Amino acid sequence: MIVFRDDIDGPGAPRSGADSASIEITKVAGALGMSGKFSWGANARLTGKSGAVHTFDLVITPAEGGSAKAAVLRSVSEDMVTGIMLFNSAANDCGISRKVLAVDRDLDHPEANLARMYDIVIVDQRQQPERRHDVFGVDGLDEALCGSIRKGNVYMISGKTGTGKTVASTQFLVEGAKKGEKGMIILSDTHGTDFIANAKTLVPGFEEYRKEGAIEVIELSDGIKGLKEGVLGNLKNRTRYIDVVTNEIKRLASEYGITRLVIDPITPLIVADEDFINQFMMALYLPNAYTLVTSPVMKSDMSMYGMEEYSVSGLIKLEIPDANAGIRKASIVKMRGRSCDTGPVYFRIAPGGMVPLENVDKKTADGVFRRI
Ligand SMILES: Nc1ncnc2c1ncn2[C@@H]1O[C@H](COP(=O)(O)OP(=O)(O)OP(=O)(O)O)[C@@H](O)[C@H]1O
Ligand SMILES: [Mg+2]
Repeated sequence: MIVFRDDIDGPGAPRSGADSASIEITKVAGALGMSGKFSWGANARLTGKSGAVHTFDLVITPAEGGSAKAAVLRSVSEDMVTGIMLFNSAANDCGISRKVLAVDRDLDHPEANLARMYDIVIVDQRQQPERRHDVFGVDGLDEALCGSIRKGNVYMISGKTGTGKTVASTQFLVEGAKKGEKGMIILSDTHGTDFIANAKTLVPGFEEYRKEGAIEVIELSDGIKGLKEGVLGNLKNRTRYIDVVTNEIKRLASEYGITRLVIDPITPLIVADEDFINQFMMALYLPNAYTLVTSPVMKSDMSMYGMEEYSVSGLIKLEIPDANAGIRKASIVKMRGRSCDTGPVYFRIAPGGMVPLENVDKKTADGVFRRI
């Protein structure tokens, strides 16, 4: 039985003068995409299927459809690994699938991996609730993401060639640099000089930020080929390969103090094996950085090998629905913790980067014929 303490409004309409508990609940509900009214209970005691009684720091129940409860574990201790395991099994015993870890510090690697493995959503108590957080500096796209991009997670942009993956990645870095964040792009299939020559004519501010060291451009050396051949020959070598490559990325990120990392594209660094891809993405964990990888599409319409989309926290798909009009479309296919749904965003690529198109006739954009 839950001891209900109060009713509060949903994240769409936070109460003015809300106390710290309702701010926490608003953040959790926002991260889980819950809306409407909730009941909540602190130190809620629930009896599980096993007959054991479990106490949760917080249980939130939507007013309608009481089955989709969410349980919250607050990070209070130094070592959360055991706490996360116990919390997960207690939630499972009580049939609660929406699990949240509310943190007030950066998690260490084992804690974050465990949370990810158990599909526990991390809510950072230190972050002020935001209605909007500029990730790309592109109106419409940032609104569609509605603050769901989190540090420590890996996100993917996928699309056919020419859809705008590299342009979007460049904007992501420039937008970060505007906020004083340091960015790094690892180019796995382009020469750094070619990328720089293009980016500086297309995305305003890129070259200035690069010159002042706010954006680092890295290209792959030939060493990667030999390393990767070792994995292709024998998958058992994969742990060593993943360690070498991801440790090198982490070393560079820490040396330059990177908080926005792009790997464009991820494909040459991975192999078509689900366990490998999962292990690689997990090892890419950078607690202080937003990580964005790009992928061409081939095996599925989401990625090259048809597997990468499962190992990332969010996926933005780019398409060109009307090549004649030069219109591009960005759809958020998957985004953990996203609390809004705005539909696709249409844009053009022009000097200035991604230029959002408002009032695009969607029938025209998606159809075969174009209205004049
Ligand atoms: N300097 C530029 N000036 C004008 N338009 C450009 C410029 N650079 C790129 N574009 C336009 O932006 C489009 C998207 O380019 P981008 O390199 O981001 O595609 P991509 O999805 O990364 O492709 P790929 O998979 O081949 O790497 C190009 O097809 C082109 O139309
Ligand atoms: Mg590209």
